[in-house]
Amino acid sequence: MQTIRYPRIPASRWLALALLLISAAPAGANEPLEQGKALATSGSGGVLACATCHGSQGEGNAPAGFPFLASQGASYLAEQLENLASGKRANPIMQPIAKAMTAAQIQAVSAYYAQLPAPVDKTKLGAHVDLYPAQEQLGAWIANRGDWNNNIPACIQCHGPGGAGVGESFPALAGLPAGYIRSQLQAWRDGTRDPGPLALMGEIAKRMTDAQINATADYFATLPASLNHPAVAQGSKP
Ligand code: HEC
Ligand code: HEC
Repeated sequence: MQTIRYPRIPASRWLALALLLISAAPAGANEPLEQGKALATSGSGGVLACATCHGSQGEGNAPAGFPFLASQGASYLAEQLENLASGKRANPIMQPIAKAMTAAQIQAVSAYYAQLPAPVDKTKLGAHVDLYPAQEQLGAWIANRGDWNNNIPACIQCHGPGGAGVGESFPALAGLPAGYIRSQLQAWRDGTRDPGPLALMGEIAKRMTDAQINATADYFATLPASLNHPAVAQGSKP
């Protein structure tokens, strides 16, 4: 009778194989994030690489008017992509891109951007809430105090001190391009952007004047840069 000879595998090989299996587990767990990153940086099929317009770290491109995506809530981003694809939120640049994405790609890329660091230092923003702006500083006034005669609440009540964003559903505003903020408020007034949870923004935007929209957009767009002003850095107002 013949004896079966098993190939002898050196112990070092077993160890290498075991390590390979162990390291494969966490890689599998991060798969959607990896897919999201690949889509963001390289695109796929009909989907343009998001980084082309939204920046390599999702930091946006203020001069071009492209919003940042980094650190915004994953469910907020996914919902926007679904609305952009369906036309509930109208935009000629984003619609074809969002439409070309699968549901899984939308979830993956939203999760990827949500965990990237915010382009703005949120601790700085919160530390410099301006609760007593001069009334002629219209943008700071609306953002921090609102306009109660016209039923407009202070933006920071929902968007957090300094417009840093709150949780998954209230996006950060600080550092978004002024033109972008303005066009979103106008879109809600015109009904070309879905009013979102409880139609909160649709109602608020409809009550704002053009001057209030412009001033508030400028305030949130320049807030991060104004925090670097030496007077602000020392703890007072510029
Ligand atoms: C050619 C430029 C371009 C590319 C490429 C692009 N975007 Fe955009 N994106 C825009 C513009 C412009 C807007 C603003 C739309 C508006 O004004 O409503 C926008 C808005 C968005 C928004 C809404 C942000 C918010 O704060 O509500 C999301 C989410 C988004 N893009 C995700 C993506 C993803 C994910 C990709 C890649 C798969 C991508 N974009 C690729 C130009 C681009
Ligand atoms: C009662 C709560 C509430 C208040 C107050 C509020 N917002 Fe919002 N805002 C929201 C919600 C919720 C969203 C997300 C809408 C969505 O999911 O489409 C939002 C979204 C936005 C966006 C879109 C951001 C992006 O990335 O596209 C802008 C711009 C905005 N708000 C501006 C303002 C301004 C300016 C004020 C003050 C005049 C304000 N908001 C006050 C709840 C609020």
